[in-house]
Amino acid sequence: MQLSLFFLLLLLHSSSGKRKKNVGALVRVTTSSTVGVLFDELPVDTHNYARSLLDNKTDDYWKDLARRQLDLTQVRLVFRPLYYPDVQPPTFRGTFSLPLRDQLEIRLKGRPRWISENGHKLYVRDYALNAYILTDRKSVILADDRLSCIHKSFIINYTLPLDPMLLVQRTGLACMGENQWPPNSVDAENVEYFYDDTCEVEQPQSPETIGCQQCHCQYPLPTLSCKQALTKYVGSIPIQLKFVRKPWNRFTANRWRYPKRPSVNGNGVVAPVNIFEYKPDLQRNRLVYLYIEADGCEIVEQCVETSGWRRLLRFSTTAPNFGIEDLQLGRVSYFANDPPSDLVTKYHMFEFSPCHQHFHFSHYANFTFGSLSNARNSKRGFCLQAVYRHANAEWSPLAQAYYTCSNQGIPAGWQDVYQDGIPCQWIDVTSYNTRKQEYTSYLQSHVNPDGFLCEGVSINNSWIETNFSTTCCNGEGCCGNSNSTECCGGEPVYRTNCDYWSGYEDDNKAETEVTLPLNGNGQLTADCWTISGHWGPRRDCGFRLHPYGKYLSCQPGEYKTLMKVQTSIEYQILRVCEASIALQCGMACTWNNSLANVIVDKKQSKNVHFLCPAARDEIETGGRFAVYVAPLFEEDEHTPLSVTWKKSY
Ligand SMILES: *[C@@H]1O[C@H](CO)[C@@H](O)[C@H](O)[C@H]1NC(C)=O
Ligand SMILES: *[C@@H]1O[C@H](CO)[C@@H](O)[C@H](O)[C@H]1NC(C)=O
Ligand SMILES: *[C@@H]1O[C@H](CO)[C@@H](O)[C@H](O)[C@H]1NC(C)=O
Ligand SMILES: *[C@@H]1O[C@H](CO)[C@@H](O)[C@H](O)[C@H]1NC(C)=O
Ligand SMILES: *[C@@H]1O[C@H](CO)[C@@H](O)[C@H](O)[C@H]1NC(C)=O
Ligand SMILES: *[C@@H]1O[C@H](CO)[C@@H](O)[C@H](O)[C@H]1NC(C)=O
Ligand SMILES: *[C@@H]1O[C@H](CO)[C@@H](O)[C@H](O)[C@H]1NC(C)=O
Repeated sequence: MQLSLFFLLLLLHSSSGKRKKNVGALVRVTTSSTVGVLFDELPVDTHNYARSLLDNKTDDYWKDLARRQLDLTQVRLVFRPLYYPDVQPPTFRGTFSLPLRDQLEIRLKGRPRWISENGHKLYVRDYALNAYILTDRKSVILADDRLSCIHKSFIINYTLPLDPMLLVQRTGLACMGENQWPPNSVDAENVEYFYDDTCEVEQPQSPETIGCQQCHCQYPLPTLSCKQALTKYVGSIPIQLKFVRKPWNRFTANRWRYPKRPSVNGNGVVAPVNIFEYKPDLQRNRLVYLYIEADGCEIVEQCVETSGWRRLLRFSTTAPNFGIEDLQLGRVSYFANDPPSDLVTKYHMFEFSPCHQHFHFSHYANFTFGSLSNARNSKRGFCLQAVYRHANAEWSPLAQAYYTCSNQGIPAGWQDVYQDGIPCQWIDVTSYNTRKQEYTSYLQSHVNPDGFLCEGVSINNSWIETNFSTTCCNGEGCCGNSNSTECCGGEPVYRTNCDYWSGYEDDNKAETEVTLPLNGNGQLTADCWTISGHWGPRRDCGFRLHPYGKYLSCQPGEYKTLMKVQTSIEYQILRVCEASIALQCGMACTWNNSLANVIVDKKQSKNVHFLCPAARDEIETGGRFAVYVAPLFEEDEHTPLSVTWKKSY
């Protein structure tokens, strides 16, 4: 009985899927822009050499740079409804999303050329974007009613950095919209999830406000607007993304449709809902060192084993839904001041986190790495949210309703991303012994491990009790009210009663091999690959530990000239990082956390000044540092021994 109902529903779904095939809509997206590399941070006598490096790059290099610039349009497209609070039906300003970045057609125009923009020197190329959004006829109008007729169009204006790389290193958080994100989510490697050129200089939000409800919440607040910061530090370009509704064309649709069809199982049945672990994002992993305060949320939420300096393997977990229906969780009182919803108060699927002041969903994914089992099989999650349209197909709506944490779900063809900069989206790998040798193992991720997300058809909107129960968060209210003091651990947790699509689990797991490098190494010493802009002295990759600078001492808290450095080759970058007493090695720091970061040359020796690290706690009593070196250009050979220095207290 139950089974036949299931198949009937599937039949209905697949036939409606077929019908949709003939009712597609095409929207052409175009723009012209200029993208390039900022030379301001390079010594003037390297400019010709740097230019020749760029002249030797393939067109793919420039196209990748163009795509990174276009990535910065995404936040204002996906969260578009939030930018038009006054718009009421029949006028619609719904969610939008460009096709996947690799599918964007970039046509380079002309040769690279110099420009001088507000005193900034850049070597740039012009390009044009061409892309087609493929969706269904109904949602295209809900996404923007100006697209209701063929040939109708609209424009969205943006101000983008001419050089899209190293944006946080250059402009701080001025262009990073933190609205709705947990504290400290912005990470220099993930600017595309935050870029908002409408961010202005803001006052601190009221202390009563729960969660971040404006562009900037992290202190110190930026003192320049995004546009001002771009003008001052990078150089900017105004672009216009133009969206035009195009007549239906089968060939264009076939050319742009991705994937070629939604998830289908071995029996040929189309998935109503099917999320999967997207492996390329798992492979986007990196090792960082973070100091965790004793009272940090990371401790309360058991994301690390103890406080102090930790070695953390960061990675992204991405779950696209390639079924033809929305995965629905529903309304959640995400921030505790919203009215509570059944998901929280009745089904306990979400628990209030007093530390983060919002609700957590802990059945999104679990992860493991390596052989040590204690506390490393972690579950993370706080909000199921559509942040990117992964598919480009008739069965994937353009306008959707799951773009905030207050209404959670993943629409057909969209995806949720837990990107690798979010606090706790990591595995604490500090206890793997990598003093003398590297450690290689598999990083495994498993989305929807407990079947809480209904990958199939929900039965009669009913709920069933699971064997999970709520935890008691430090005696503070977990079950719905931030102000209740009652601890409600031990309440049964419910999930949707679901007829799972057969095969739903097959694609929920992925693994990738990861090598933990020797102590003192991490993202900073990894190959640049796609991280960190791979250009110039502010990059956070491509360095090496100096063989004689792995773990040195200084007088805690003193600001001194500690080193005299010179190199035998033209130019090198020398970076000084704090070192940990507990871990006995350098912390492979990012540019913004470095003690010093200087370009040294062979013409004269340079004095390097820095503030010797002060004590942080009883173990980390300060006074330790490490030295990292890199060629000025990532493309050049490492000559690690050519730096010499003397202590000159
Ligand atoms: C660029 O390529 C040319 C020809 O292959 C080569 O002679 C030159 O050294 C290259 N320049 C740089 C900076 O690598
Ligand atoms: C976009 O910018 C152009 C040129 O600056 C301006 O004329 C137009 O009004 C702007 N459009 C919108 C929608 O802001
Ligand atoms: C420095 O940047 C890293 C990411 O690259 C970020 O995680 C960290 O919070 C930043 N630190 C400061 C002090 O801004
Ligand atoms: C995730 O949890 C499930 C069930 O709790 C378990 O079977 C699975 O092995 C875990 N996966 C990983 C990668 O840890
Ligand atoms: C769904 O609800 C109907 C009417 O209440 C009931 O007859 C049917 O048995 C239910 N189906 C399942 C699978 O529980
Ligand atoms: C709960 O655990 C019991 C005993 O292990 C098992 O029989 C039952 O199927 C579980 N219930 C659910 C909903 O997973
Ligand atoms: C908790 O806060 C809500 C909303 O701020 C308020 O209506 C309610 O009375 C408070 N409850 C208690 C027990 O203080």
